[in-house]
Amino acid sequence: MDPAHVDPATGLAAAMAGAEESAPGRVAPATLSLARPDDWHLHLRDGEALRAVAAASAAQFARAIVMPNLKPPVTTVAQARDYRERILAALPPGSDFEPLMTLYLTDLTSADEIRRAVDSGFVKAVKLYPAGATTNSDAGVTDIAKPRAAIEEMQRLGLPLLVHGEVTDPDVDVFDREAAFIDRVLEPLRRHFPALRVVLEHITTREAAQYVAAAAENLGATITAHHLLYNRNAIFSGGLRPHWYCLPVLKRETHRRALVQAATGGDPRFFLGTDSAPHPARLKAHAAACAGCYTAPHALELYATAFERAGALDRLEAFASFHGADFYRLPRNTARVELRRERWTIPESLPFGEDEIVPLAGGEGLDWRLVA
Ligand code: DOR
Ligand code: ZN
Repeated sequence: MDPAHVDPATGLAAAMAGAEESAPGRVAPATLSLARPDDWHLHLRDGEALRAVAAASAAQFARAIVMPNLKPPVTTVAQARDYRERILAALPPGSDFEPLMTLYLTDLTSADEIRRAVDSGFVKAVKLYPAGATTNSDAGVTDIAKPRAAIEEMQRLGLPLLVHGEVTDPDVDVFDREAAFIDRVLEPLRRHFPALRVVLEHITTREAAQYVAAAAENLGATITAHHLLYNRNAIFSGGLRPHWYCLPVLKRETHRRALVQAATGGDPRFFLGTDSAPHPARLKAHAAACAGCYTAPHALELYATAFERAGALDRLEAFASFHGADFYRLPRNTARVELRRERWTIPESLPFGEDEIVPLAGGEGLDWRLVA
């Protein structure tokens, strides 16, 4: 860790903004008990990588919505069934972690596949990647009109559409792609399918937070810990920092603040989704660095840090443990977990099959720790 990057007063990254949100005078609790949380947006990968990361999410969460952007992508219920089996096989013995599967929407996804997905019981949503928007999105949707029969069926059966909300138009500035997506794609889509249940994933802008807050109850949004903790300065502070590079990319401070307000404001349409997206360290520290922050091992601790800075620790449980389950019409978890106030250092690197992986903010300190 480059010491110039760390705020000597707090030990936290200088770009981890938000001191002005803290609530002086409040008594800081020593422990925090919450219903066992779920991760409503997670990348588990496959093979060696899956075996390296599965336990971390299982230690933090009861369930997770698992992204389908494998190579090749998980486009059918049969593939989702096999992938689910591989995930279960990768869990530590005795783990009761439940992977909630998703299908990868393509131009060719059929209404029949949607019916099979609902009948399966284990496919809980369908993911829309605009073709070319992000990692393994080449097989994604080239024109939202193409899979309209599938989307119609999702609307009819109540199967949520999860949206990577960025346009791919190279003429649109990378920092404006989410806002442009809302205007050009999402709003027309929701007008056309007014009863479609939609989750705008990993929102990063004030525009997205406001759009969701103003919308009907069938639109929700996930928010990552990194978008709550950091603004785009983090990518450039003291050098180019690929571990802070994800998509949609971190935005300005005004946007981060809007996200904190949305996450801590109690609106049940905003819920936890880490978007933990593991890549080997050698492909992060690379001339064309892969997008994605690996936050699975310390996800709850990162969220607790963000909520505490906002003076809203009392709102963490609903955001992490209730809102997502309610949106997905799944039972809330009844078991509980505890976080303890304890200073510890995030590992600088972890094993990742034959490779290594760098957790977000590796080498930096955190003041909350999940009790095992
Ligand atoms: O940063 C990201 N990484 N954003 C995505 O949308 C995909 C993800 C990945 O799969 O690596
Ligand atoms: Zn993702």
